[in-house]
Amino acid sequence: MASHSWLMLDHESPRYRLPDDLRARDPMGGRDCGWIEQMLPFVRQFSQPGDTVFDPFAGFGTTLLAARLEGRLASGCEVDADRIGLIRERLARHDLAQGTTLLHGSCDALDDAALPPFDLCLANVPYFGCGWTGAPAASQLYDSQSYAQHLDGLRNVFYRVRAGLREGGACIAMVQNIRLSDRVLPLAFDLARILGSLFVMEEERVLIYPHEGEETNADARTDRRHEYALVFRKQRERIDLQATAALLETLRTQGHAFTLLGSFARWLQDPQGTPPADADIRVDADPQRLNALLQHLRDQGFALTSWGDPVDLPLHFDSYRNRYYFRADRIDSKGALIRLDICYEQ
Ligand SMILES: C[S@@+](CC[C@H](N)C(=O)[O-])C[C@H]1O[C@@H](n2cnc3c(N)ncnc32)[C@H](O)[C@@H]1O
Repeated sequence: MASHSWLMLDHESPRYRLPDDLRARDPMGGRDCGWIEQMLPFVRQFSQPGDTVFDPFAGFGTTLLAARLEGRLASGCEVDADRIGLIRERLARHDLAQGTTLLHGSCDALDDAALPPFDLCLANVPYFGCGWTGAPAASQLYDSQSYAQHLDGLRNVFYRVRAGLREGGACIAMVQNIRLSDRVLPLAFDLARILGSLFVMEEERVLIYPHEGEETNADARTDRRHEYALVFRKQRERIDLQATAALLETLRTQGHAFTLLGSFARWLQDPQGTPPADADIRVDADPQRLNALLQHLRDQGFALTSWGDPVDLPLHFDSYRNRYYFRADRIDSKGALIRLDICYEQ
């Protein structure tokens, strides 16, 4: 698979597919269950025997089973208690329950003691048949109040994943864009943007399920003819240190007041030390001065974001209270990055 950016999934092994009796016990009939064949190549390529593979959306345990089949330890979180029971039974039938840790709850709420560090995060995110019924906030992402809340929920889960993933480990999320009657919601691309605010993107692969003739089920809202596997890594960004230092100098001479913090400040003192992954500056939470700084950066070709969301100017500062920082990124034609994180709250 390493040489391909696509994976053809045209056969599901009866030996490892979710058994019919377990599927029948699920109120959704297991329609959001993935395939072992979908997960195995990623387990093999992105982890080593003995590593721990974590799935924050464990579902029916397909990722966990694939991990155990390949001699990895498996750990999974699932918000639906009945599904935890199904996973247990499925793994036990393959004699692979040992070496598996199951966590019941919403993944974003797991504390460190419950979730020890892991080497690979591999997940199919929830999207089949999302309700978006307008009900109050739910930790079950299938019941998110709205598309926006669904994205927030995914962000919270992957924020938690980031804390548990070892440095250098891959985070792989499988997802499809969603069609709602004649509207397409770009879930795959919105999720890629969210993951890009937490990890470094490595590549995307397309999973192709070449089934024919089935009409799209209006409830399912997807026919899963293809999915994207979004491959990210937890690693330090490599930034253009000299260009970043020059930018800070220019900002100072132009009268933008800020304090340089953290790793970039340390690197300026000791250029032989660990290269920083960004430059953190602190500024006063003064809407006018912040707006002037952001406008200057925008004029210089920087993309401005707040937790992955684009920032509009002029700045409506009230919308950004409690969001702590803005990020300004610029990438040149050689791929060199300048990254400035502008913190405006304690
Ligand atoms: C696409 S399914 C995963 C299926 C799994 N890959 C498999 O093939 O067995 C997504 C799962 O995420 C679960 N889920 C939704 N919100 C969650 C949350 N906040 N924390 C943990 N699990 C959640 C759903 O209950 C569902 O079982």
